[in-house]
Amino acid sequence: MKRLNDFGPAVSGLGNLDDLADPSFSQAVVYWQRSHGRHTLPWQNTTDAYRVWLSEIMLQQTQVAAVLGYYARFLERFPTVQALAEAPSEDVMAHWSGLGYYTRARNLHACAKRVVQDYDGMFPSDPALLADLPGIGRSTAAAIAAFSGGVRAAIMDGNVKRVFARVFGIDAYPGIKPVEDAMWRRAEALLPETQDNPGAIEAYTQGLMDLGATLCTRSRPDCGRCPLQDRCVAFATGRTAELPVRKPKKATPEKRTA
Ligand code: ADE
Ligand code: SF4
Repeated sequence: MKRLNDFGPAVSGLGNLDDLADPSFSQAVVYWQRSHGRHTLPWQNTTDAYRVWLSEIMLQQTQVAAVLGYYARFLERFPTVQALAEAPSEDVMAHWSGLGYYTRARNLHACAKRVVQDYDGMFPSDPALLADLPGIGRSTAAAIAAFSGGVRAAIMDGNVKRVFARVFGIDAYPGIKPVEDAMWRRAEALLPETQDNPGAIEAYTQGLMDLGATLCTRSRPDCGRCPLQDRCVAFATGRTAELPVRKPKKATPEKRTA
């Protein structure tokens, strides 16, 4: 029997994992992004890795609307990675104050110092090197590399997991390793070709984020406007409310009283 995945024990509900590549997927996302996606966010239309990095860290657990003001004030006070690296930590924390998840700010400062010390103030373009820096996980590294350098790398954040779970009908909780691994495999297989395709990886990456944030929302997704509707398993089967599968609850032990 064919295994459903190559990552340890077979897990069911991962959807069809044969021949994951499908250029029409990225094409649909890229076309939609170019006509209906967001194009005027302050961290777009720049290849300055410092600005891209700062935005991706601020956006990790925070919505765009909450980030905008902080982003502008932060860049005004710390216009370069050198300025940030040299700043006293109290000053950095003061400019983060109110955004929450303060580990991000401490990692941000440590990362700026590393980029200055190890890379002469220039962020590396290789996602693997980026992911080795404080506060930068695999998905954030890919986003920074794609937006600042056009590097062909896959993102997989909460929004993308939701879109993938619905489109491909992934019937398993995405928080467990084999399911997440299978999603990463799909994400890498579905990346657009970058040769002779200028701007495609940027539009695709931003398009996945925009789809998850504006159409394929957690509750009541706007499937009528979705460029993926014709291939979406959740739409076709009326299961948009059931997918992605929620974290399984531990069965509460039954207590008997005499
Ligand atoms: N969330 C994470 N990265 C983002 C981006 N580049 N634009 C909008 N929202 C995001
Ligand atoms: Fe999400 Fe609906 Fe689009 Fe499917 S058709 S990806 S559920 S918005």
